[in-house]
Amino acid sequence: MENNPIIAGNWKMNKTPSEGNAFISEIMDRLAEIKNINIILSPPFTGLYGPSLDYPFFKAAQNCHWEEKGAYTGEISVSMIKDCNAKFVIIGHSERRHVFGELDEHINLKVSAVMSGGLKPILCIGETLEQRQQNKTNSVIKSQIEKGLKGISSFENIVIAYEPVWAIGTGLTAEENQIYDAHERVRITMRELYGENLNIQVLYGGSVNSKNADSLIQISGVDGFLIGGASLDIESFTSIVKIVEKIQGK
Ligand code: PGA
Repeated sequence: MENNPIIAGNWKMNKTPSEGNAFISEIMDRLAEIKNINIILSPPFTGLYGPSLDYPFFKAAQNCHWEEKGAYTGEISVSMIKDCNAKFVIIGHSERRHVFGELDEHINLKVSAVMSGGLKPILCIGETLEQRQQNKTNSVIKSQIEKGLKGISSFENIVIAYEPVWAIGTGLTAEENQIYDAHERVRITMRELYGENLNIQVLYGGSVNSKNADSLIQISGVDGFLIGGASLDIESFTSIVKIVEKIQGK
């Protein structure tokens, strides 16, 4: 279970709770045969409450606050997410960073809070187009990991999602060598910072769909996907999971 590929659907601000519940039931029906892929569904907070899903399905929150409770209007704590029976929390998604001005310092506090609460963070990292054009991709990856994981000492529950900002929601998928290099860089950085033998799963995100999933999942170092747009459509999402399962079973 721990090293199964992960296919995570990030719904962003889409689907009401009733739409989301119906969608999840249908996904679980259609993918009832899947055993070796961890399938994570991430509705908005309003759709998160309910029983835990049966393995290999899991729920994730899209964000959290780092404080346990208090006067933080509009925020949601890790214990509230836990009470909804979610197991993962997406942290530092590029929309949080770039639309809502989230800083690495906030992301670090959130990762710590998620881990202390016994949930698993999916830490999102990735360069903007400008940073890539200026050859800063490696340094951005390093700095986002270093700052995001500052003070963290146990890594087995952390998932990293490499998502080049320019590929998110744009229909522009990164090229295979760019994805390979970035995933390699994530692992080199983790080794440099925290030592050998870390078993970290690294997902790719950015315009993954049912047409490119086959080739993307075969890139060495890609342990699964974080999917936005294509996760909202039942046909696309289920076909991506089936494609990954087929490749995995080879
Ligand atoms: P996309 O989004 O698949 O629509 O590009 C990916 C993400 O935001 O995680």
